[in-house]
Amino acid sequence: MNPLDIRPLFPILDQTAYGKPLVYLDNAATTQKPLPVIEALSNYYLTINSNIHRGAHYLAAQATEQYEATRRKVQAFINARHSHEIVFTRGTTESINLVAFSFGQRFLNPGDEVVISAMEHHSNIVPWQLACQRHGAHLRTIPFSDDGVLDLDALRSLLNEHTRIVAVNHVSNTLGTVNPIAEIVKIAHSHNIPVLVDGAQSIAHMAVDVQALDCDFYCFSGHKMYGPMGVGIMYGREDLLEQMPPYQGGGEMIKDVTFERTTYNDLPFKFEAGTPSVGDVIGLDKAIDFMLQTGIENIARHEKQLTDYATQQLLSIDGIRIFGTAPHKTSVISFLVGNAHPYDTGTLLDKLGIAVRTGHHCTQPIMDRYGIPGTVRASFAAYNTTDEVDSFIAALNRIAPMLM
Ligand SMILES: Cc1ncc(COP(=O)(O)O)c(C=O)c1O
Repeated sequence: MNPLDIRPLFPILDQTAYGKPLVYLDNAATTQKPLPVIEALSNYYLTINSNIHRGAHYLAAQATEQYEATRRKVQAFINARHSHEIVFTRGTTESINLVAFSFGQRFLNPGDEVVISAMEHHSNIVPWQLACQRHGAHLRTIPFSDDGVLDLDALRSLLNEHTRIVAVNHVSNTLGTVNPIAEIVKIAHSHNIPVLVDGAQSIAHMAVDVQALDCDFYCFSGHKMYGPMGVGIMYGREDLLEQMPPYQGGGEMIKDVTFERTTYNDLPFKFEAGTPSVGDVIGLDKAIDFMLQTGIENIARHEKQLTDYATQQLLSIDGIRIFGTAPHKTSVISFLVGNAHPYDTGTLLDKLGIAVRTGHHCTQPIMDRYGIPGTVRASFAAYNTTDEVDSFIAALNRIAPMLM
């Protein structure tokens, strides 16, 4: 894949910031959207905007058809067994909150344990803390090594008859580590413990097959995979979803309502209360097309080249420390320049047109683990170029002496 071929699909990248060409390296926060996604959004509002499922008219039928077609596309994209195992949410955060609430209601009791890793995003920590508080359960964490590799022996020794679920990310948004999900699932399943995977940072960078991984839940956001903000996915295994109570009550999720009693709708509607982000879901369809047409293998290969090159160039600058050096990484590089505060580095880079993220990246326990306030994070996507890495490195070479 030549990134220059897809670049025209992203006109937002053709602009300057403070008179310098914009170099967008904040892709782990959100990716830019290709034109077909933007056009699908505006076409939806221009031509078929209407509420889905309940309308007996032409526009509602078209919107419903496209919404449900996207569900089937997502099903194929992650190789789920059934389309009703795909639940549309607002994003990864809502997907994990849904599972933590609903799974917790059904399966968590006083004295039970929930195991997460020490490299989770706050979105995969706080919902479980809340669930543990509600049910008198305890949160346990899998530690990781200095280079950012999870300790699977520690996982093995954490699991016991009280463990009800393991929740881990596929890729760490701060360290870039790709966690061995299939192996983690095997370990957990040998104790009959289900596994939730936070796929927010993996879905745009590798082919995901939920049956091959054998995971029980897989959560991700449309906006991190070239799709619109406002749509996310909660994949869950049918047998578990059937046993879990609804997350929110309202329209769409019911079969019959009386003041005495409500019966719930079938999957997936039981978990989709109220009016969803119909236009965003339809836009996500085009994001999946973009990824498949570009080729997930091509994207992964290109991003690895950029990451390896940028890492090598970064290490040639005096005083740079990289956090997260696991052998298996995606296109995320977290670093510090000497002891400079990450915010200072980020601000100076910004003035040179380079967009990176600074701070704790919603992973404060990782920062505590390393005893640092935060990092500067550069993250690459399919449309980034080697020239952009060169601009980033040139900018750092310019500002590093000012910061040391
Ligand atoms: C690993 C991880 N999990 C969860 C989230 C939350 O995603 P969202 O804000 O789209 O709900 C993020 C966002 O950065 C993330 O990187």
